[in-house]
Amino acid sequence: MPELEECSGYNYLKETAYDRATVKTIKRPAIAQAATFKAYPEAAKVELPRIWQLAEARITPLLQKRRSLRRFMMEPIKLEELAFMLWASQGITAKSGDYSFRTAPSAGALYPVETYLSANLVEGLDPGLYHFDVENFSLDRLSSEDSAEAVAAACLDQKFMAQSAVCFLWSAVFRRCMTKYGNRGIRYVLLDAGHICQNLLVAAEATGCGGCPVAAFYDNEMNDLLQLDPGEESVLYAAAVGKKVVSKGAHCSL
Ligand SMILES: Cc1cc2nc3c(=O)[nH]c(=O)nc-3n(C[C@H](O)[C@H](O)[C@H](O)COP(=O)(O)O)c2cc1C
Repeated sequence: MPELEECSGYNYLKETAYDRATVKTIKRPAIAQAATFKAYPEAAKVELPRIWQLAEARITPLLQKRRSLRRFMMEPIKLEELAFMLWASQGITAKSGDYSFRTAPSAGALYPVETYLSANLVEGLDPGLYHFDVENFSLDRLSSEDSAEAVAAACLDQKFMAQSAVCFLWSAVFRRCMTKYGNRGIRYVLLDAGHICQNLLVAAEATGCGGCPVAAFYDNEMNDLLQLDPGEESVLYAAAVGKKVVSKGAHCSL
């Protein structure tokens, strides 16, 4: 759409898209490293307690255990578990006037992010591509062709994605946010997607699953897979989710 294509925000997304033919030759600007932690050596330190006894702290083990998971059990997840993850990431929790508020915050309550699924191993759900109908809390079947390999291929051939039970694919309908916020809306769309993904990862943890966020993908291949018009809607982010392989942790807990 011409007015969107003239926006610098929209062009930024286009300029930073990955394409299979050029991904290996992309020139990155030479930007010097920064330290991982910022320090104020002169500042007085306030020690923080590490033990909390709040009712809300039920979330503690979920946050503590969450790690990006790239190895999954070849075991289906239940439809009920998938429904919970969809609700946790994008479900409607309150209504007020024209607004339907959701589990994850959204700038201006505009909710520009759409959720698609590539189902692979979900009990009671044929493999294929689906769209999450937030309003009716249901799934629209878009294709019953097995899409797991195609999604992994479009994600820079990250093979673990094809072994997950389900991949969440998030796109943005830019107009929903940019009509109000213009170019700044691009920031908000990306932030919204981050909130949604984190909610999903915590919900996955609560169901004995794990997930890995994925932002490395060939934009045109992902958009083609979902038959999106990239002038209006484009994939921003993804996550592969599946049952955890029970193993001794490679990471130490703090
Ligand atoms: C924006 C974003 C994009 C990411 N993209 C990928 C990806 O394409 N492939 C992958 O294996 N991991 C990806 N990750 C996962 C990170 O590698 C991971 O979060 C990081 O190593 C920290 O580990 P943790 O998530 O286990 O705490 C991504 C994470 C974020 C937040």
